[in-house]
Amino acid sequence: MNKKHNIVIVGGGSTYTLGIIESFLAEKEYFDIAKISFFDTDEERQKIMAEASKIILKERAPDIEFYYTSKDKEKAYKDCDFAFIQIREGGLKMREMDEKIPLSLGCVGQETCGAGGISYGLRSIGSLFEIVRDIRKYSPNAWIVNYTNPAAIIALALNREFPNDKKIFNLCDMPLGIMEALANLIGKNANDFIPEYFGLNHYGWFTALYNKEGHNLMPDILKLLTKENIDTHKLNIEKSTEKSWEDTYSHLVTMCKDMPGSIPSTYFQYYLYPKKIVEKSDCNYTRANEVMDHREKIEFQKARQIISEQTSKNVQTIADLHGRYIIQVVNSLANNLGKTSIIIVPNNGTISCLPDDAMVEVDCYVDRRGPRPFNVKEISTFQKALLQNQYALESLVVESWYNADRQKLIEALALNRTVVNFNVAQKLADKLLEANKKWLPQFFN
Ligand code: NAD
Ligand code: G6P
Ligand code: MN
Repeated sequence: MNKKHNIVIVGGGSTYTLGIIESFLAEKEYFDIAKISFFDTDEERQKIMAEASKIILKERAPDIEFYYTSKDKEKAYKDCDFAFIQIREGGLKMREMDEKIPLSLGCVGQETCGAGGISYGLRSIGSLFEIVRDIRKYSPNAWIVNYTNPAAIIALALNREFPNDKKIFNLCDMPLGIMEALANLIGKNANDFIPEYFGLNHYGWFTALYNKEGHNLMPDILKLLTKENIDTHKLNIEKSTEKSWEDTYSHLVTMCKDMPGSIPSTYFQYYLYPKKIVEKSDCNYTRANEVMDHREKIEFQKARQIISEQTSKNVQTIADLHGRYIIQVVNSLANNLGKTSIIIVPNNGTISCLPDDAMVEVDCYVDRRGPRPFNVKEISTFQKALLQNQYALESLVVESWYNADRQKLIEALALNRTVVNFNVAQKLADKLLEANKKWLPQFFN
């Protein structure tokens, strides 16, 4: 019989919570759960997601013990086997700032790339450290799985602060999102793919997609992707209702044509075509506004309906891609399955042109010993330069946080392909630090 796991979700009030609960329930037979706890600093927000989750669990898995709190860290974190961190420091209101400040200076406004990602990263590092310390105090052996964004910067900071902690890893669902889109294009299931992928988070490339028989399907997929008049709706399955995601998938096709041979992360659109992205952006209505008007509203409406009807039977919650990815990885880990998944781990030689302490996103073998990366072979000069530049700037952000160093922050911004101009970097540094003053007192002493 499989072991039963205790899990904690930090950021229980997230818009992803219902999808994750649904994903856990879908895999309950394989990844058996004894107890789920939620912890969130926003008591009211979490209560809505938690009360709805409680009803879902009571109806579908009454054997799972459930608990939520905004205060009792000991009860939330004690004896857990897996801790999942999904917080949004400053909430969607601060995401709006991260996007609108850069746009006001003519730069890309995105929550994980460019100046917005740097702002979000600086704001979140301190809280992540506190959460990891709290978890470790009560559960020294738990696996800690972080997917809080900007995952690239958070992963680097966590690796620097906890270098000897070998049970923390970081995840991003975008590679699976792209694989599902590509699988859809050729009428297959993403689970049939064994990927080869390398880079940094939101900054990497697929170089091969093998099927179970060991044939690389990538050349055929690329041929299909880049042929004239491809219907990009075919690619975008889950996020198709939202305009900005529709555009993202059509840009993916453009990127495959412009950079033949591999399939890049969709996030490269911000770094490679920043001018086009800015021109298309509305500085009064960014992705944060779209999320507040769609995902956040929809998920909280669902939760409220479950609570008011005291049943989940009239509400459709789905095991979305995000939740499915998390469970796929932890299931392989807990049950020693040895599946290949794309995970953010310490480099240690995996990508030879990057230092050991870089946090790379690569295909990993996942079993009970945790994710172990496969070595990356050929990297073109162009890709090397992009990676080294991005690693340098992300390290400068972390460095700047530790030493309250405004100059390093300016350098990080200037190195970013969405900023480049040094004067703009200086202005951005001032504006971003001012907006994040509450979280970054060290810069104002
Ligand atoms: P959200 O704002 O809906 O939820 C985040 C929750 O975290 C809120 O309830 C908030 O109160 C709570 N929170 C904030 N600071 C906290 C702290 N210090 N301690 C405990 N709780 C805290 O956000 P969301 O849109 O659902 O996203 C949640 C996070 O997951 C974000 O960072 C998002 O970028 C990330 N995410 C990452 C991936 C990925 O691919 N890596 C995919 C999806 C979501
Ligand atoms: C992708 C990315 C995540 C991001 C998510 C939602 O899955 O990998 O890092 O958080 O999209 O982005 P959105 O703009 O819809 O909030
Ligand atoms: Mn991501």
